[in-house]
Amino acid sequence: MADRGEFSSRFGFLMAAAGSAIGLGNIWGFPTNAASNGGAAFLLVYLVLVFGLAWPALMAELIIGRHAQANAVRALQGLARGPFTRRLGTFVGFAGILTVSLILSFYAIIGGWMLAWAVEAPARLLGLDAVSSWLRTDAVPRNALFDALFMGLTILIIMAGVRNGIEKWGTRLMPSLILILLCLIAYVLTLEGAMDGLAAYLIPDFSEALDPQLIINALGQAFFSLSLGVGTMLIYGSYISQRESLSTVGWMVAALDTSFAFLAGLLILPAMYVALASGVEIFDADGALVAGPGLIVVVLPALFDTMGGAGGFISFAFFILMSIAALTSSISMLEVPVAYVVETRGISRHRATLGIGMLITVISLTIVANFGVLFDSVVTLTTEYSQPLLGLFFAVFVGWIWHRKGVLEELQKGHAGVEHTLFWKWWPFYIRYICPLAILAVYVQLLRG
Ligand code: TRP
Repeated sequence: MADRGEFSSRFGFLMAAAGSAIGLGNIWGFPTNAASNGGAAFLLVYLVLVFGLAWPALMAELIIGRHAQANAVRALQGLARGPFTRRLGTFVGFAGILTVSLILSFYAIIGGWMLAWAVEAPARLLGLDAVSSWLRTDAVPRNALFDALFMGLTILIIMAGVRNGIEKWGTRLMPSLILILLCLIAYVLTLEGAMDGLAAYLIPDFSEALDPQLIINALGQAFFSLSLGVGTMLIYGSYISQRESLSTVGWMVAALDTSFAFLAGLLILPAMYVALASGVEIFDADGALVAGPGLIVVVLPALFDTMGGAGGFISFAFFILMSIAALTSSISMLEVPVAYVVETRGISRHRATLGIGMLITVISLTIVANFGVLFDSVVTLTTEYSQPLLGLFFAVFVGWIWHRKGVLEELQKGHAGVEHTLFWKWWPFYIRYICPLAILAVYVQLLRG
């Protein structure tokens, strides 16, 4: 087998895994979902689903990954007990690779917007008005250019491998991200209208909490946010040292990701209401929130514009923050197909990354050119239909196909006495019964439309 690489420290793994989990999904997806689904009601359901379903599923992926020391296809095949489950493993592994490649192809477009807006502010500050207005205008050439640029950056980091690429960038970028976010929150809360946003975010409307659509959205958001179902976390798990306690790091990743989503809500919701207070439309004619992919790049620039001279700097900080968050996520997506090809086809990491990266760039550019037709369908197909279903299969593999003894042995590495913890008392039951059934229940709702 090819030399696989390993994270050099717990901090390195945490930053990388948290970097994967924390991304556009937290800073853009979560707050807008919360805002359009009853604010705190969504927050509440989301918290229940993250800790009740998504976190146990995250543990399943991390455990399989470290046990197998391989990509998702091989890992699942290795757990199989016979030809049928082996074929199921192959299918789920490949479906994950396909899903994550498609996720990356839409993610790179939004990542590209973030880059474009990050460049826009300095261009304006330098007085390059023509450049600035070109960068501000949503058009195919701009989107295509920055989409390709975003993919290029992703490819470069993945080429560098686990320690020099994924880990180095994660440990540098994630802490700076948190710092910038906190500063922006502190600033935005001083502005007029911010408190209305805070109220919308934190004061619950419980009548909405049991709405099936809200629950479907919250589950999709939870799986997307923790990067589940496609083998991303499985691969990252395979790079964790045997000396680490999986249950501890898994818990920390879920907690970090969720705190980040919560914090992002504290920035975005107030920022939207600040924008409202200064005359920017954030509700449509029906009183519904202007959500959709364009929210961030319509409402927030308008907000920054109202801030006078400081606006340029804040806009720059914000979009750099978004670009960084998006990149530490996109590298975790590209790693999935790359690890598969490197490990099973014996192709070098360089070549594999370049080849697959270019293929995904082409798909992504096709979506850019046909945005209205393709974008929403690709997002719905991958995140709402594919991800939870694949997550269900991962739970089935750990809960029903893999021997319980094997699971425990893996958990005991780096965590002596784990069999006496609360985690081992309830998690096996959970992953065997509750996770599959609950995901299935939400899925049936989804299919019934
Ligand atoms: N979780 C990331 C976010 O919230 C996105 C992400 C990274 C992802 N890797 C993934 C989503 C794998 C689905 C599957 O932005």
